Amino acid sequence: MPIVPILQYPDARLGKTGEYVTDFGEELQKVVDDMLETLHNTENCAGLAATQLAFEHPKKITVLYDYRLAQRDPPKDAALCLINPEVIFSEGQLEEPEGCMSVPGGVYEVITTRAYKVIVKAFDREGKPFEIEGEGYMAKLLQHEIDHLNGIIFIDRLSRLKRQRIDKKLSKLKKWADD
Ligand code: NI
Repeated sequence: MPIVPILQYPDARLGKTGEYVTDFGEELQKVVDDMLETLHNTENCAGLAATQLAFEHPKKITVLYDYRLAQRDPPKDAALCLINPEVIFSEGQLEEPEGCMSVPGGVYEVITTRAYKVIVKAFDREGKPFEIEGEGYMAKLLQHEIDHLNGIIFIDRLSRLKRQRIDKKLSKLKKWADD
């Protein structure tokens, strides 16, 4: 099972919306396996969305660790797969910094629009519908990954000023790397 490269900002593909999954056949199973393999082999990675990986036609698929089971270092078998996920309930406000595997430079920012608690409906990899509830860190993770599937990365949700500051920092980093 190959590991799929993680796209790095400012790659324009990060702005793509994932296509809805309608076929839960063999091809989907292979994509999910590759995403899980990539998740397990990426250090400090809590979740991945298909739209941040180098797939030609990324679909609405995310894999993430279930932090409701273990707040620290969840085991591999605690990985969940959500297909066509959608937030159906949200409540409260979370003020916890977040980062992203697709945003280099150790950028961590509080996204003030994050809800403290969410309920998400999705399908599992077999096509069975389910709902999942998350609070705190888990709520943040679910919202972050669903944003990815809609072509939104977390820094898109920052104020223009903060965003400009980050873009400046990242272009400097890139210049150093290129020199
Ligand atoms: Ni991310």
